[in-house]
Amino acid sequence: MDQRALYQVLKWFSDTGVSDITSDAVATQRPAKKEITTLAELKEAISKVDIPLKKCALNMVFGTGNENADLLLLGEAPGEEEDKQGLPFVGQSGLLLDKILAAVDLDRTKVYITNILPWRPPGNRTPTGQEISMFRQYVLKHISLVNPKVVVCLGGTATKALLQTTDGIVHLRGKWTEIPEISARIMPTFHPAYLLRSPSQKREVWHDFLSVRDYLSQ
Ligand code: URA
Repeated sequence: MDQRALYQVLKWFSDTGVSDITSDAVATQRPAKKEITTLAELKEAISKVDIPLKKCALNMVFGTGNENADLLLLGEAPGEEEDKQGLPFVGQSGLLLDKILAAVDLDRTKVYITNILPWRPPGNRTPTGQEISMFRQYVLKHISLVNPKVVVCLGGTATKALLQTTDGIVHLRGKWTEIPEISARIMPTFHPAYLLRSPSQKREVWHDFLSVRDYLSQ
């Protein structure tokens, strides 16, 4: 990690209330930052994150849907339409996502949807490793506050960010997996934007969502 990246990560820890990473002794002498216990508090905390990304975006895109859902869908980052409306998956990818959900008797009232990044990267570029590491703790908090039984990672970026892996989505999709930080099971699948370019892969995604539906209906 270069010096600038290290500075950003340390600054992020500092902003989120971590004051000592080697000893508990010093940290306990300082007033603890209030723990985030609601989605509203999380939204407020994220809105205060100091990151250049935010300056290029029109709106913060937090999350939407059923806050008690058993299924949480995790995307990559807002696109142009999401940036305009301040809501996740409301552009072309979102329309396809609605059809995928409908194919397994689901809709947006039954799921919760959020992204790894809350602001649109300029020109829809892929999020950097540094941006992902800044937001991963927030994503984990977001997931634990909704407390779903299943998280579906939409695409390689969301999958790599959540699982902290370098394995590709082609290898990981369709396979149930878990991470120690959350209790939900995780199903990686292809991103709807990829399906718009490669419609022949829709069948795989349908299979992945059928597995999810079967698991949730047990
Ligand atoms: N792509 C994503 O990953 N997320 C959105 O919200 C929109 C498009």
